[in-house]
Amino acid sequence: MQAAGSSASPLLCLRGVSRRFGSLCAVDGVDLDVMAGRITGLIGPNGAGKTTLFNLIAGTLAPSAGEIRFEGRRMNGLTPERVFHHGLARTFQVPRPFAQMTVLENLMLAAERQAGERFWNNWIRPGVVAAEERAARDRAFAVLEVCALADKASNLAGELSGGQQKLLELARVLMIEPRLILLDEPGAGVNPALLDTLIERVQRLHRSGIAFLVIEHNMDLVMSVCDPVIVMMQGRVILSGSPDTVRADPRVVDAYLGEVPV
Ligand SMILES: Nc1ncnc2c1ncn2[C@@H]1O[C@H](COP(=O)(O)OP(=O)(O)O)[C@@H](O)[C@H]1O
Ligand SMILES: [Mg+2]
Repeated sequence: MQAAGSSASPLLCLRGVSRRFGSLCAVDGVDLDVMAGRITGLIGPNGAGKTTLFNLIAGTLAPSAGEIRFEGRRMNGLTPERVFHHGLARTFQVPRPFAQMTVLENLMLAAERQAGERFWNNWIRPGVVAAEERAARDRAFAVLEVCALADKASNLAGELSGGQQKLLELARVLMIEPRLILLDEPGAGVNPALLDTLIERVQRLHRSGIAFLVIEHNMDLVMSVCDPVIVMMQGRVILSGSPDTVRADPRVVDAYLGEVPV
């Protein structure tokens, strides 16, 4: 799916990216381009290296080899926080909210580099801190609206259902105005009604100019929402193309028959 205003140079560019765990090469020489204005799918059997690839892109793991560029800037070696604040955000396969904090507090925590983080600002520039906090709070309420969580602002995050926690994950990353969001299995453990909401909200954000890279096992979801679709097996990208091209490839049929309900 292509939104207006996308450009030809890749938003995210991986060249020769590898990651070893001892003798296992979990990600093995991956070249990959993610274009602006697209919802790109990433599929492959369990153990193919998809989550490891996300961890490399997001700075959670360091690559053993290769280069990762986002908007032309080299990301290798940056901490997850730095990558996040460059506008490249990821959600987790299993949501990790601060369960004992409210939904709103979780979002405030994710807000971009507030002046208040440097504690002396509270004394030297209290006005700036207050203004930034107000701006973050306004943004949090707008983001909650976008993520269909407006009525949950004061609930404890730990009280939310699995699907609502996925929406909170999305809300959390929207606090920093990301240009690319990595979604790890957004459909897993989400009831069908909430999944429809989640997909609809992702498509709405996509139309507003945010690109997505989505790992997902639900093939119907991938094929209806993502274009292009990238296929990984045993640490390598073996195929990338339109949903129709990917669906027709014998290797994909082999890998998915019996594993994914159709
Ligand atoms: N921290 C780790 N230490 C050792 N092996 C790992 C680690 N993380 C992942 N692996 C291994 O790397 C391979 C790819 O895993 P993963 O990226 O989670 O695959 P996927 O998300 O495609 O199911 C698997 O064989 C997995 O056991
Ligand atoms: Mg995974």
